[in-house]
Amino acid sequence: MKRWTQILILVMFVTLFAACDGGVSDGIALPPIDTKPVPDEDLKYSIVTDEVFRPACYECHSRATGVTEGNIGVDSLVEVRLNIPAIYDSTILERNMPPAHKPTLTERQLSLLKQWLEAGAPE
Ligand code: HEC
Repeated sequence: MKRWTQILILVMFVTLFAACDGGVSDGIALPPIDTKPVPDEDLKYSIVTDEVFRPACYECHSRATGVTEGNIGVDSLVEVRLNIPAIYDSTILERNMPPAHKPTLTERQLSLLKQWLEAGAPE
């Protein structure tokens, strides 16, 4: 094989790997969630409701008021439990809930919600 062919192949591989890497790290880096552990006694539906769901979600996700965007209400524990993956994805992983025009969740709200969902949404 001629030397320039070898160089060409090498360049192609390097370009390919660089492209792959770019794809993986494409997303916008989200600020890390404060991992300060929330005390176990705070991992309750009533506390998550008071601190997160009522102030940050009910406006758009409440069966009681009939506003259920994305067909999700977070004012019933049964319904929340059925939607744990969707709630986790949208609030913790992608952080697109609440939507961008609303105040973002505080670190305390994020930690509380994350740990409560990871614990299986206890009562
Ligand atoms: C200002 C209105 C508004 C607020 C506040 C809001 N949402 Fe939403 N939410 C929407 C709308 C609109 C949709 C449906 C369209 C979409 O998926 O973007 C939605 C969809 C969702 C979905 C379904 C996403 C999916 O992948 O199916 C989940 C879960 C959700 N919201 C959770 C929450 C939680 C939890 C909060 C509070 C922390 C919250 N939302 C706050 C408007 C809101």
